[in-house]
Amino acid sequence: MEFLKLAEQRYSERAFDKSRVIEEEKLSKILEAGRLAPTACNFQPQKVYVLKSSDALWKAAKLTHTYEAPIVLLVCYDMNVVWKNAREEGYNSGEQDASSVLTSMMFEAESLGIHTLWIRGFNSKAVEESFELPENIKPAMMLAIGYPSESSAPSPRHSDRKPLTDTVEEL
Ligand SMILES: Cc1cc2nc3c(=O)[nH]c(=O)nc-3n(C[C@H](O)[C@H](O)[C@H](O)COP(=O)(O)O)c2cc1C
Repeated sequence: MEFLKLAEQRYSERAFDKSRVIEEEKLSKILEAGRLAPTACNFQPQKVYVLKSSDALWKAAKLTHTYEAPIVLLVCYDMNVVWKNAREEGYNSGEQDASSVLTSMMFEAESLGIHTLWIRGFNSKAVEESFELPENIKPAMMLAIGYPSESSAPSPRHSDRKPLTDTVEEL
């Protein structure tokens, strides 16, 4: 499918079909899209945790609203691997690398008919503690994935896009 069409049809899913299982081969394709995503210096600091056991999903649902998605991908980055900017003290590309990985997975899912929700409404420390993440692994965001239920529909916010003239400028 033409990419712009895919981008146009995607919307944040908040009404997953919680009982419809995601096929293993489709999950593999989604994870593969994340593996192929660009990261700073190709350091690939991402660590993607697949939450699909009821215990892991229950933990995630206690930390943020996951809308009963059958799978949640917890996208993290490794502070020991991440690119650090020599020109700017304290800067690392972890959040951007994780976003790059998540975005690729999001659109691969969409191309397979699987809907997604990008989630950042959680407390990082609480996630680290709940999933007992190693000290060097930092949670960046979650991607809830699943098939849409019958009541699935884009939120009113979805179509509320600013015109390019508001967000793009030539310098
Ligand atoms: C960085 C980021 C964080 C987000 N965090 C959440 C979240 O915690 N919970 C949620 O329901 N949606 C979250 N969203 C989804 C946005 O609300 C949604 O993408 C936006 O309103 C546009 O709607 P659309 O995705 O349907 O086009 C997040 C999106 C981004 C890019």
